[in-house]
Amino acid sequence: MTAMVRRAARPVVDGTRHLLARVAAQPAAARAMRRVVTELDGALQRGRWLSDRRTEMYEASYFGVGRDPGGDRAGESGYARYDRISSNAEVAGYLVWRTFGGARTVLDVGCATGLVVEVLRELGMDAEGCDVSRYAVDHPALGAAGHLHVGDLLGRLPYEDGAFDVVVALETLEHLPPADVDRALRELRRVCRGALYATIPSFGPNGGGGPDGHVVGKVRPERIAHYQALGASYDGPVPFDDLARDVHGDPVEGHLTIASFAWWTARFAAAGFERRPDVERRMVADLVPDLAAAWNLYATVVPGADEAVVADRDPGRSLVALGLRHPLYEAAAVAGTGDRGPAPAT
Ligand SMILES: C[S@@+](CC[C@H](N)C(=O)[O-])C[C@H]1O[C@@H](n2cnc3c(N)ncnc32)[C@H](O)[C@@H]1O
Repeated sequence: MTAMVRRAARPVVDGTRHLLARVAAQPAAARAMRRVVTELDGALQRGRWLSDRRTEMYEASYFGVGRDPGGDRAGESGYARYDRISSNAEVAGYLVWRTFGGARTVLDVGCATGLVVEVLRELGMDAEGCDVSRYAVDHPALGAAGHLHVGDLLGRLPYEDGAFDVVVALETLEHLPPADVDRALRELRRVCRGALYATIPSFGPNGGGGPDGHVVGKVRPERIAHYQALGASYDGPVPFDDLARDVHGDPVEGHLTIASFAWWTARFAAAGFERRPDVERRMVADLVPDLAAAWNLYATVVPGADEAVVADRDPGRSLVALGLRHPLYEAAAVAGTGDRGPAPAT
């Protein structure tokens, strides 16, 4: 049957090829055809990213196995050696523990191998984690074993409605295609009864309690000046073709949504999460300066949330005093400056 169809279609295919070759012999038509081919190729690449690669890239190599620390991102990626120190998990866990003082239950979405879940459990919180990566969930940090599940933000997460006082999504929401962000935020809202805390690479004026963002490292180097010139009125998201690439030509670490603080804040509001600059200011003050500049953070609450969820926990206890480790905090402690520095200007 297939062979018969192929035989019948032969004259049409041959005729079309002949016609295309004659058209391509005209210089103007050849230029137009080349343009069409480039667009089709781009669309195929984008389509592949937004369907298959969106989830299939989070395998062993993403989490460091066989990865060259100096190779695919010129040494910039902490994931070449994914551990509690290089991933800043101790600081991330400490910040959640400290900031959401009235919270008992926490869900870390996009938890990878559960390093933050492990830290939170060590600090006495009832923490769970989920991730789209089967590999990550099957290779849990020791203290997170039994508390990680496979879950795709674009599906239904394996938890009841309102199951968690606090939901965190650290460096994860930018891995979703822009068109799917609202759906994912609605799913986070479903499982959250108190606060949502996210870190997302963002650009433009902060509008909350932390420093402004920028586009460097987030868009292709040759497009940085263009986006800087657009100024504060541009919200993004940055088109797929302008996203920063690794040496293979793939969006860096799978970052698909690069947008301004204003864009993300509006998306959070549409899903029922109100941003809390006062809480963000406290968080930024608990970060050493390098991390305060690097983490674009969003602290939000849902309507009617118990205010105790965002109450400061044990302000006297620094990260180092809790027995956690991080070279920058240890240096600050030795210098006698403690963790909490002066609140940044807003
Ligand atoms: C950059 S890593 C961040 C890991 C960890 N939160 C951290 O801060 O170190 C992004 C994580 O998001 C996960 N992820 C990507 N798309 C996801 C989705 N649709 N649903 C859940 N997790 C997703 C990846 O598997 C990966 O573990």
